[in-house]
Amino acid sequence: MYVNMKSLLKSITSGKEYPLNEVRFTADNGELLDVIHDFDAIKKQNNISREYFSNKRSTINGQPSGGVWHFRELVMPDLPESEIISKQEGNTRLYRSKKISAWLGLNKEKFFLKHEGENPTGSFKDRGMTVAITMAKHLKQRAVTCASTGNTSASLAAYASEAEMPGIVLIPKGNVAVGKISQALAYGTKTLVVNGDFDDCMRLIREAQEKLSAYPLNSINPFRLEGQKTIMWEILMQLNWQIPDWIVFPGGNLGNTSAFGKALHEAKELGLIDKLPRFAVIQAEGASPFYKAYKNNFSGLTPQKADTIATAIKIGDPVNYTKAIRAIKWTNGIVESVTDEEILDAKANVDAAGIGAEPASCATVAGMKKLIASGEIKSNETVVGILTGNILKDPQVIVDYHFNRKTALANPPHDIEATIDELKHFL
Ligand code: F0G
Repeated sequence: MYVNMKSLLKSITSGKEYPLNEVRFTADNGELLDVIHDFDAIKKQNNISREYFSNKRSTINGQPSGGVWHFRELVMPDLPESEIISKQEGNTRLYRSKKISAWLGLNKEKFFLKHEGENPTGSFKDRGMTVAITMAKHLKQRAVTCASTGNTSASLAAYASEAEMPGIVLIPKGNVAVGKISQALAYGTKTLVVNGDFDDCMRLIREAQEKLSAYPLNSINPFRLEGQKTIMWEILMQLNWQIPDWIVFPGGNLGNTSAFGKALHEAKELGLIDKLPRFAVIQAEGASPFYKAYKNNFSGLTPQKADTIATAIKIGDPVNYTKAIRAIKWTNGIVESVTDEEILDAKANVDAAGIGAEPASCATVAGMKKLIASGEIKSNETVVGILTGNILKDPQVIVDYHFNRKTALANPPHDIEATIDELKHFL
């Protein structure tokens, strides 16, 4: 139901408020902005409760929706439904896996992987993109942009096409997986390959916003995070509102960390849960400024030149740093780092279990392995890992692994003649 609430933008520490329809991404003092909804009014109009969401049958523009817009009251209650640009994102599977839980040493009944790679363009970005592009259109922006390690550009490209808005994506030269760059090209967005890294692209996007009024759909855009919040609520609903002990996921630009923290904080505020699960945010060792800041009790972020095989999280200066600290504090969370070898090892296991995910996603499972080994995560705890992107996003890493490695899971192809004699050796 469309309700005329008063959502607004609010500076995360100073609390300064701005109207929702003001085009801005930071407060006057440079702080990041939250989208704040009027929960008291929303609760009065809709009987917000666990049962409400569990039993609700949601539709968006006449189609069954589920997913992001199932939680519309808590995502963007002010918008008329007819304005929403959606590809039915979300509603992703929560897998169990005997193989992976055995490899990790976790109880198979208490281990879950939420596969965000099963979204329309193959990553969690679509959850944020549906909200952000809808707002871009609502705010009558002339063009949408992003800096991207690949998935945001793929998602932006698909949604800009649907919204009939010009899109420009900036990607770092030589550092975007082939599946992702193919999507940006195929969906028809203008793709600029920047001679620099992701952090250079991000800097350029922020400058373009200020100087050229190009509307960014990166996670600095607070509407993106409103959509990504729904990953947490969907997990709670899928677990019948049993609160897991841990939620484990990769950290790059730290949009998810920020969005997930906000989602659970709000769920508690709304009385949907009475305690928060703990977060474990996993970074690649070569791109781990957040991990290092965590180790220093968040005394400051030192940007770094990032380097990792998990190109999606090859980020050295995350824009959502301050929001992410808040999320770690709210959830009594931890930050861990894993090597590229550990990521590849975890990926081989996730892939061989028939689930599969791109390298950055498998940092999740590599982090679990490390945290279980160190005793931080206990074998009888309930653990939910987020797989952020689809296995087909980065086929090159898979081919390199299986052709070149001598590990137990390496599975190179075999060339044979077209004879039954040669075939029978393999049966
Ligand atoms: N996993 C995947 C597959 C990603 O594409 C990203 C980020 C992350 C994890 C990290 O999430 O930034 O919220 O901490 N990809 C961005 C992009 C930066 O441009 O596609 P985060």
